[in-house]
This record gives sequence, structure tokens and C-alpha cells, in this order.
Amino acid sequence: MKLLVFDSVDEMSRYAAEKTVQTIETNQRPVLGLPTGDTPLKLYQYLIDDHIHNHTDYSDVVTFNLDEYIGLDSKDYNSYHAYMQRHLFRHLNIPLENTFIPKGNGIPLSKAIEDYESALEKHPIDLQILGIGANGHIGFNEPGTSFESTTHVIELDPITKENNKKHFPSRAKVPNKAITMGIHSILQAKEIMLLASGTNKAEAVQSMVEAPPTTECPASALKLHNKVTVLLDKEAAKLLKEEHPC
Ligand code: GLP
Repeated sequence: MKLLVFDSVDEMSRYAAEKTVQTIETNQRPVLGLPTGDTPLKLYQYLIDDHIHNHTDYSDVVTFNLDEYIGLDSKDYNSYHAYMQRHLFRHLNIPLENTFIPKGNGIPLSKAIEDYESALEKHPIDLQILGIGANGHIGFNEPGTSFESTTHVIELDPITKENNKKHFPSRAKVPNKAITMGIHSILQAKEIMLLASGTNKAEAVQSMVEAPPTTECPASALKLHNKVTVLLDKEAAKLLKEEHPC
């Protein structure tokens, strides 16, 4: 696990965008794994700026989103389908049929899992980009999730519901369940890049980096992968024992 600590979220996001564009340019049919949440917003803005100014071509890019809430219509403002359209896809020349997001509504969940798994099998991920939850989750793989898990439905942890309530009218409106790519599937990516910023991620980052792999901190599974880069701002890195300048 390689660690890079940046002075600002802006620098961290710029680095992540450069790495993403490099992956697109060096693969004939690049496959990206994408996260949602607040952390990747600046990265997505940099990708859009790059597309406008440098004309990076997304017509052959395939993307997988990690997760989706169960029970929200894909047009619901808080669905991750809507998030991706708003913050990235509609600004790029990416064909909609190349963008895979697990479906949390409208079809039986068993079918949603089957569809997503078979798409993953067809398109192995070149670069999986991740955020991290304050409780150490990756995607919506909450603490306790098996490292052997593939796509599955999960009950959201109370900490996750608390942290994500800011996006909803009230905590009661945060969905109880989600569908997520599993930890085993995440580890199949050829390369992984995790981004974390802010003090509220410092403990999760410390467990991920310094504790042995344990299902209590799902992100610690990344230690089992041989090509992982963790990008942090100073606040997220503040509890780490060693210094990791970039
Ligand atoms: C969300 C998503 C994760 C994301 C994490 C952190 O709930 N399911 O994929 O990485 O929690 O979110 P944020 O970046 O807003 O802190």
C-alpha cells in the first residue's frame, strides 16, 4: 500500500485526475471503477475540465459504480444514478450503455446482482477509485462484511446513516439498505486508488493503514492487493505514526 499525503484536497484531486486520464490513455478499452460521496467531487470536476480542454475521449471508456441505495428511483436526486449523471457522465462523451451502476429499484434484486456481476466479468476493472466511510467502509461494504463477498445487498450501518443524512430531508429518509460491489470484487481490480480527506476520516485511515486486515475495517482488505495507492490530505493522515509526504 503506497501512501501519498497532499497539502490540500485540490492537489490530491488533481493527482487523482492525472492518474485517471493516464489510465484512459494507456488502455484501448479502459474500465474505471467509480465512487460517489463528497470526496471525489473535485476529482470529477478536474476530469470534466480535462475533457473540455484536452478532449480526453470517453467513447470507449466503461465505468462501474460501486453501489446504490435500495428503494430510490434512479431519477431521485439522492440516488447514485442521479449523482453520477449530475457530477460526471452528462459532461463527458461517455455512452450511457457503458456505465454500470447496480440497480436498487425497479427490478428484482437477484436480477440486479446477476446483471452487475456478469457485466463485471466481461469488463475487468483497470483502475478502481474508492472513498472510505468514517467506519472504514468501502463501497457500502460495512464493518463485518466478508472479504470474499461479491455483489450483495447490505443493511446500512447506523454510522453511515448518520453521516449520509446531510443529503436527505431527515435521518429517517436515509434508505436502510443498499446494493454494493463486494470486497472480493473490489480486490479483482488491476489497480486501486483510495481517496480520503478531512479529520472525520482520520481514524478509519489509521485502522486501514496500521491495523492488520480485519473485517471490522473493510478498507483494511486493501492490504491484500499489491497495487494500491492511498491519497490523503493532511487532516485524514493526522493519526498516522509515520510521515508519508508525496
Ligand atoms: C458513501 C459511499 C462510499 C463513499 C463513502 C464516503 O456512503 N457509499 O462509496 O466512499 O460513503 O463518502 P464521502 O466521500 O461523502 O465521505
